[in-house]
Amino acid sequence: MPAGGRSSRVVLLGPPGAGKGTQAQVLGRRLDVPAISTGDMLREAVAAGSELGRKVEGIMTSGSLVDDATMAEVVRERLARPDAGRGFLLDGYPRTMAQVETLAGILREAGRELDAVLLVDVPEDELVRRTLQRGRADDKEGVIRERLKVYREKTAPLIGYYKERGLLREIDGNRPVEDVTACLLRVCGVA
Ligand code: AP5
Repeated sequence: MPAGGRSSRVVLLGPPGAGKGTQAQVLGRRLDVPAISTGDMLREAVAAGSELGRKVEGIMTSGSLVDDATMAEVVRERLARPDAGRGFLLDGYPRTMAQVETLAGILREAGRELDAVLLVDVPEDELVRRTLQRGRADDKEGVIRERLKVYREKTAPLIGYYKERGLLREIDGNRPVEDVTACLLRVCGVA
């Protein structure tokens, strides 16, 4: 976190079903920055039947990741919008080391740095229980197992990377929503 201040360029990291989207809504409002969910942006593109939506629909329903080049375009365009000038809360990006590099490049070009990476962690059984209960198109048991596997292989390595850079804050997400929110707000320097 910047000395004495609150975090304004924040990444929310964590496995599928950890509660990133749930927390991003409140946290974004309280930090007064846009909560940017790449998953929501892609689902909107699918619903709109756009070229991007047609390209990613099958990938999303299989539980795989959309390719890094496509995601770089999506995120670069979103972070260039005026509301992201005062900061952002990224939910679901980056989730590969290539995406880490892309984000670092975008920030470097703007003369900015990340303030914090918040890891919300939850045991696997609970993740499966939560997502099955929600029942989104990619919340079928086989797909959830695949998303968890992809998380372990592609996204979990980001934890060590950000830890080494002193940016990682770990939050126990296996608690009631309000308790997780309170902890995240504290970590971000919001009373
Ligand atoms: P995305 O939408 O990012 O999905 P995800 O990471 O798998 O995360 P979820 O939305 O499942 O979980 P969440 O942590 O947000 O939890 P939530 O708050 O919803 O990505 C979907 C797909 O898009 C990917 O598989 C990929 O194909 C593609 N994609 C997206 N970004 C990409 C990228 N950067 N690169 C490549 N591909 C990308 O909560 C889950 C449930 O639990 C809810 O029902 C909620 O009410 C409940 N809940 C939340 N908190 C609690 C709590 N504390 N206690 C009990 N229940 C809780």
